[in-house]
Formats: sequence, C-alpha cells, structure tokens
Amino acid sequence: MQLCDKVIIVTGGGHGIGRALCQRFAQERPRGMIVADLDAEAAESVAREVAGHAIPGDVRNETHIQHLVAEADARWGGVDLFCSNAGATIKGGVETPDADWQRMWELHVLSHVYAARAALPGMLSRGEGYFLQTSSAAGLLTEIGSAAYSVTKHATVSFAEWLSVNYRRAGIRVSCLCPSGVQTDMLNLSDPIHQFLQAHALSADDVAECVVRGIAAENFLILPHPEVGEFFAAKPQDYDRWLHQFSRMKEKWDRPHKPRRAA
Ligand SMILES: NC(=O)c1ccc[n+]([C@@H]2O[C@H](COP(=O)([O-])OP(=O)(O)OC[C@H]3O[C@@H](n4cnc5c(N)ncnc54)[C@H](O)[C@@H]3O)[C@@H](O)[C@H]2O)c1
Repeated sequence: MQLCDKVIIVTGGGHGIGRALCQRFAQERPRGMIVADLDAEAAESVAREVAGHAIPGDVRNETHIQHLVAEADARWGGVDLFCSNAGATIKGGVETPDADWQRMWELHVLSHVYAARAALPGMLSRGEGYFLQTSSAAGLLTEIGSAAYSVTKHATVSFAEWLSVNYRRAGIRVSCLCPSGVQTDMLNLSDPIHQFLQAHALSADDVAECVVRGIAAENFLILPHPEVGEFFAAKPQDYDRWLHQFSRMKEKWDRPHKPRRAA
C-alpha cells in the first residue's frame, strides 16, 4: 500500500518507534493522521510536528480504540492504516503476578483485537484496509528473562496471522513488525539482556524506514534486523538445538559479573 492520501492511526505515537513512524509517514503526505498515546503531552507534541491530530488514551480500553476510529471516520471518511504499536516490557518469569500477565495480555493482544473490531467494518465496506501490529523479535523467538512479554508478543504474531488468513481475500492486508533492539526508552540499560540488545540496536528512524518499505511491498513480516529472520528460520529446522543455544545464552547472562583484577 502506498501511504500518500491515506488516513493513518498510530498508537504509542508519542515516543520511540511510534513517534518515528508518525514522522516517517508524514513524508508520504497522508490525508490525515491520528497520534494516540497514553502520554497526552507527547501525543500533542508529535501531532504538531506531523500536522496530525492527537488523542490521548489507553489502548487497553476498547472505548478509546473505538473513539480513534470514529474520529478518523468523522474527519477523513475512514481509516486506511491502523498501526497498533503501543507496548511495554516487563521483567520476570513464572513468579510474575497475575495482574501483570493480564496487563501484558490487554496491551499486546486485546488492543489489536479492539483495533480490528473497530476498523474492519469500514475497511471491509471499502474493500481495502491495512493493519500494522508491532510485535517483537521476542514474538518469533523469545526474550530471556521476560515470560509475560515473550508469550503475549507471540500472541500478537498469532493474531496478526489469523487476521491476515481470514481477511486477505476481502482486501485486508496485515504486517507484523518484529524488531530486536531499538534505541528507545524501552531499553533498560541496567539489564544485561537489554545491554546486549542495545549493542545491536537500530534507531527508531531505521525501523520506520523498514516499515514504509514493508507496507509498500505488503510483506507480512517486517524484520528490520535480518538476523531475527535467520534465527526464526533455524527454529523449525532443529527446535532442540535452537532451545539449547538460547539456554546457553541465558546461562552466560546469569553468570555473576566478575570485576577485573587490578594489574
Ligand atoms: N525498543 C525495543 O527494543 C523494541 C523491540 C521490539 C519491539 N518493541 C515494541 O515496539 C513498540 C513501541 O515500543 P518503543 O520501543 O517505541 O517504546 P517506548 O516506550 O519508547 O514507546 C512506547 C509508547 O507506547 C505508549 N504506551 C504504553 N502503554 C500504553 C497504553 N496502555 N496505551 C497507550 N499508549 C501506551 C507509551 O506512552 C509510549 O509512547 C512496543 O510494542 C514494543 O513492545 C520495542
């Protein structure tokens, strides 16, 4: 899909990847753009920059998502591209409290379901529409040390696949963005795994450029880091070997950091 003259909604548009998406999309001269974010000030600031319309709110609330689509309908006659990008990370394994699992589920799964529920009827009546859903490399591989993030980002990929399979013939296109490390506030540099991700991280602008190319080509998977595709391809070839390699990585990161001896 070409973005010129299209109507776009971006959630999590106030910071990081979402902000870079809004900035990059603006260069394609869309007809209208809604910048949505929990952080109202950030949404306003990006909207001013890209001549968009800011709407603050929480993507875990279905009424907010319905409002985004209703605004796009009222202002510009419908949404062409809905980018469900808002997300957050959380550390922890099996001990992660149920409330945090629930928050991750709402943020990384239900928000995408709400977007599809709200935007699909208009898209289907026009015979075309596009969803970009931001998952993560963790959604194809895993994020060591983050069970709820890994599992719910896998579910993001699964829902995007389902949407694509079920609505492709009706003119609906879906892309699933699965980056590894990206230089945004999400990376917590006191965490050794995030330090590793940071060392190979791309800028949010690089990711946005990949997204524009991926949407133009209507690719389902958008992988700004090619190595993610390689690791993903290796998984079904020898799942046990893949698990072994990742568990070795975890072991390495778990080792206590030894201070260097003075010379
Ligand atoms: N940064 C990375 O290394 C990385 C890697 C893979 C995937 N991702 C994914 O990219 C997406 C964007 O992350 P980012 O790196 O730009 O992080 P970020 O923290 O810079 O931006 C996330 C944005 O989402 C907003 N947000 C968070 N919860 C929200 C909610 N409930 N409702 C509405 N808005 C909410 C925040 O206010 C913020 O503006 C996320 O889905 C994240 O999981 C990031």
